[in-house]
Amino acid sequence: MEMEKEHRSSHPRLVLVPLPFQGHINPMLQLGSILHSKGFSITVLHTAFNSPIPSNYPEFVFVSIPDNLSEQLISADDLLPFISLLNLNCGVLFQECLAKMVQKQEVENEPSIACIIYDECMYFCDAVAKYVKLPSIVLRTTSASTYLSRNAILQLKAEGVLTSQVSTSQDLVPGLHPLRLKDLPVSKIGTPEIFLQFITNIYKTRTSSAIIWNTNDVLEQPSLREIQKQCQVGIFPVGPLHEVAPASSSSLIKEDNSCITWLEKQKQNTVLYVSLGSLASVDKKELGEMAWGLANSKQPFLWVIRPGSVDDQEWKKLLTEGFVEAVGENGCIVKWAPQKEVLAHGAVGGFWTHCGWNSTLESISEGVPMICKPCFGDQRVNARHASQVWRIGIQLENMCERGEVERAIKRLMVDKEGKEMRQRAKNLKERIQLDIREGGSSYNSLNELIELIMSF
Ligand code: UDX
Repeated sequence: MEMEKEHRSSHPRLVLVPLPFQGHINPMLQLGSILHSKGFSITVLHTAFNSPIPSNYPEFVFVSIPDNLSEQLISADDLLPFISLLNLNCGVLFQECLAKMVQKQEVENEPSIACIIYDECMYFCDAVAKYVKLPSIVLRTTSASTYLSRNAILQLKAEGVLTSQVSTSQDLVPGLHPLRLKDLPVSKIGTPEIFLQFITNIYKTRTSSAIIWNTNDVLEQPSLREIQKQCQVGIFPVGPLHEVAPASSSSLIKEDNSCITWLEKQKQNTVLYVSLGSLASVDKKELGEMAWGLANSKQPFLWVIRPGSVDDQEWKKLLTEGFVEAVGENGCIVKWAPQKEVLAHGAVGGFWTHCGWNSTLESISEGVPMICKPCFGDQRVNARHASQVWRIGIQLENMCERGEVERAIKRLMVDKEGKEMRQRAKNLKERIQLDIREGGSSYNSLNELIELIMSF
C-alpha cells in the first residue's frame, strides 16, 4: 500500500478540462481513469455549470471554476452560442487557477503537472497552457470521419458549393464515400458564420503537442491514416475509452436501475433499447409516432425519455390515450438508464439511437445492431457509417412515421437482415476486444501516448 502511494506520488499530475456536457464528460473522465490506472495523478478542472460528481471518482482531485454561466437546460439549438460564451468567459479564470496550481507545486514540492488535456471544444485552453508554460494535448470526442467531414465543410464553403440545399442533397461528398452532402455535420441551424468559426476554432491545434482520439483502427483506419497525413502532431486513437477504462459512472442524471430488473424478465436478444442521448429532443408529433411504432411492433422495448427532451412536458401527458394500455408489460420507460449496463444485457437485441459518438461506440462494443435516427451534427456521419460502412444499422431517413418505425423494428429485431447485422456487430465487438489488448493498435497507441507524456 505504502509502495503504491510512493509510486503514485512520483508520477506527474495531469490536468483534464472537459466540455461540460454528458457526451464529453464521459470520455474525458474515462481517459482520466485509464491514465490514473497507469500511475498518473488526475486533477479535473471544470466549470460549475454541469459539474461532474466528484464522489464518483474519489481518486481524482476536482477543482470547480465559477463560470457565470446560467444553470438552465441547454438544447441542441443553443449549443454553439453556449460553447462560444464558455470559451470567452472561462479563459482568465482557468488561467488564474492553473497559475496558482503551478506556483503551489513549486513551493510545496508537489508532483509536477506534466500537461493539460482538454476537450477540443474548450479551445481557450491552448492559450492558457501557453501562458502557464505547460504542454497541452487535445481530446477529440467525436469520430475521425466527423473530423474529415467538418474539414470538407470548410473546403466546400471556400469553393462556394455549400448552399442551403446541402441538407437535402443526395450527392456524394468528394473523397468521403459513402457520405452524402446531406450527411455533413452542419449545425442544426445551418452553416452560419458562428458554426464555421466554431469548426475553425476547434481545428486549430496551435501549440498542442498531440491529439487523443476516442476511436480506433478497427472502426476508422482509412480516416485516421488520412488525418495523420494532414496533422503536424501525433494522433493517438486509444478508444473506445469506455472499454479500456475501469467501470465508473459519470452520469449527471441519476440512473434508474429498475430497468435492469425489467430486462431480467425478457428473453435473449428481444428488447429494443431506445435512447436519444443527453441533448436531442423530439416534438409531440414525433413522440407519438415513435410510441405507436414501438407499440405496433409488439417487440419489447426499454425507452429513455429524458426530462426536457419532449417539449418540456411530461411524456405521460403527451402520449395519446391507449398507449400505456396497448403496451402493458411489453414496454419500460425511464428518465435515464445505466446505458452501458443495458447494452451489455443479454436481453437487448437492438438499439434505436440518435448515433451520438459515445452511444455508437457503446453499442458496437456490445455487439448490438442499431436503428439510426440521427438528430444533428456528427450524428448523421455516425449513422451513415453504421448503416453503410460497418453494415450494422438501419437508418431512418425521413421524419418519423409509425408505419416506417414498425417496419424498421421488425427488420432489425425479427428478420434475417437483422440477424446478419447482429452477427456483424458481434464480429466487430470481438475485433475491438482484440484491439484494446496487448499487441492491438489501440493498446499500442495508449502506450505511445504515455511515453510522450512522460517525455514532457
Ligand atoms: C453529444 C452529441 O450529441 C454527440 O453527437 C457527440 O458525439 C457527443 O456529444 P450526446 O447527444 O449526449 O452527445 O450523445 P452520446 O455521444 O451518445 O453521449 C451520451 C452519453 O450518455 C453516453 O455515454 C450514454 O451512455 C449516456 N447515457 C445516455 C446514459 O448513461 N443513460 C441514458 O439514459 C442515455
